[in-house]
Amino acid sequence: MTEFISDPLFDIREQVIVITGGGGVLPGALGRGLAARGARVMLLSRTLSKAQTIAAEIRAAGGEAIALAGDVTDRASMQAAAEKTLSEYGRIDHLINGAGGQVQGAIAMTADRFFELSEADLRAVIDLNLMGTILPSQVFGAYLARQKQGSILNFSSMASSRPLTRGVGYAAAKAAIDNFTRWLAVTLAREISPRLRVNAIAPGFFVGDQNRAMLMNETGELTPRGQTIIAHTPMGRFGKPDELLSATIWLLSPGASLVTGVVVPIDGGFGAFSGV
Ligand SMILES: NC(=O)c1ccc[n+]([C@@H]2O[C@H](COP(=O)([O-])OP(=O)(O)OC[C@H]3O[C@@H](n4cnc5c(N)ncnc54)[C@H](OP(=O)(O)O)[C@@H]3O)[C@@H](O)[C@H]2O)c1
Repeated sequence: MTEFISDPLFDIREQVIVITGGGGVLPGALGRGLAARGARVMLLSRTLSKAQTIAAEIRAAGGEAIALAGDVTDRASMQAAAEKTLSEYGRIDHLINGAGGQVQGAIAMTADRFFELSEADLRAVIDLNLMGTILPSQVFGAYLARQKQGSILNFSSMASSRPLTRGVGYAAAKAAIDNFTRWLAVTLAREISPRLRVNAIAPGFFVGDQNRAMLMNETGELTPRGQTIIAHTPMGRFGKPDELLSATIWLLSPGASLVTGVVVPIDGGFGAFSGV
């Protein structure tokens, strides 16, 4: 592993990486993995204790991490987080927009239910996923733009390219994140610096607190939805959070210097499979 860490293509040592949703399952796993390879991570989450737990694990393993409470839908909160990161680490190299997820009231279990979905819940899911990606990109992106180098990594989803049944607001917001990823990549590279890059990863299906009940029952048996997902995943299994790590390191590292505006699926082949 030491050889990999010091390979200039993939060297992220001492890079300052802000991870929103850093107390969550997938962004937290990225925080652990990036810190283990020498990055200095700022884990920002709505529930401070979750981010603190992961930051403490990282520090206990010899890595560098700080935890901060923040709300990605609140610009002032993001500004305060950026200032705190700068006061602790002196600079910012990358932003990972990991905060996001479903809002229960914005899920249409049937077509009839769609017509009655609460406007507040639909706005909330779009606010969290889309504005919660755009606002941190504005605030942290402004620092990266001043340096004329750095990168942003967004969290897309399988729901963005082919909507999955039920999660209507989430799918719409994630589709908009793909568009925003390309828009910002083009705009920053053309108008500010070709050393500013914006990409996304699109995780397939990973069992987390948010979606466990949709995928399996209490005894671990797959629900009908869980069975359908596995049947449409050529690799035949859910992902493990650490399986997002190598693509993330690549997209943040010097080896990806010509890569911008891409959305990389990490999905066991789900997105490639027509089902036939
Ligand atoms: N799990 C999957 O299969 C899957 C698949 C595709 C894409 N994704 C995406 O991957 C990302 C992480 O998902 P996950 O499964 O790891 O979920 P998770 O464990 O719930 O992590 C999400 C994190 O975001 C935080 N968060 C929520 N609202 C926030 C806000 N307004 N401001 C700051 N932080 C906020 C949550 O904090 P609290 O715990 O305090 O609410 C939580 O720590 C999300 O963008 C999700 O859409 C997940």
